[in-house]
Amino acid sequence: MTRVLFLSLFSCLVVIHQASLISRCDLAKVLHQEDLDGFEGYSLSDWVCLAFVESNFNISKVTENADGSFDYGIFQINSHYWCNDYLSHSENTCHVECRGLARAPRWGGESDD
Ligand SMILES: *[C@@H]1O[C@H](CO)[C@@H](O)[C@H](O)[C@H]1NC(C)=O
Repeated sequence: MTRVLFLSLFSCLVVIHQASLISRCDLAKVLHQEDLDGFEGYSLSDWVCLAFVESNFNISKVTENADGSFDYGIFQINSHYWCNDYLSHSENTCHVECRGLARAPRWGGESDD
C-alpha cells in the first residue's frame, strides 16, 4: 500500500517536473512553424542550440541577474532590455510581458493543435 502510494506520488512529481521541458524535436517543430529557420541568417539548429545552451529546453526557466533584472524562458530573454516584468526598470523593446515568455501555453505539456 505504502509502496503504491509512493510510486503514484513519484509519477506525479515526474510529470510536473517534465512539464517545464520541451523536447528538442517539439521545439524544432514550433520554430519551423514560426518561420525561424533562416531568420536573421540563423538556421533551425542554431536556434535549437541556443535554447539548449540558455535553458536546457526549460520553458519555465527564470534566472536573476546581478543587476536585478531577470532572464526568462527557453531563450532567457532579459527583462532590462526586451520585456517588462514590473520588477525593475525595463526598456521593454519588444512591448511584451516577460511572464508570457517564460511559459508559452502552446509549449506546455499538452498539445493544443
Ligand atoms: C525549470 O526552471 C524552473 C524555474 O527556474 C525551475 O524551478 C525548474 O526546476 C526547472 N525545471 C527543470 C526540469 O529543470
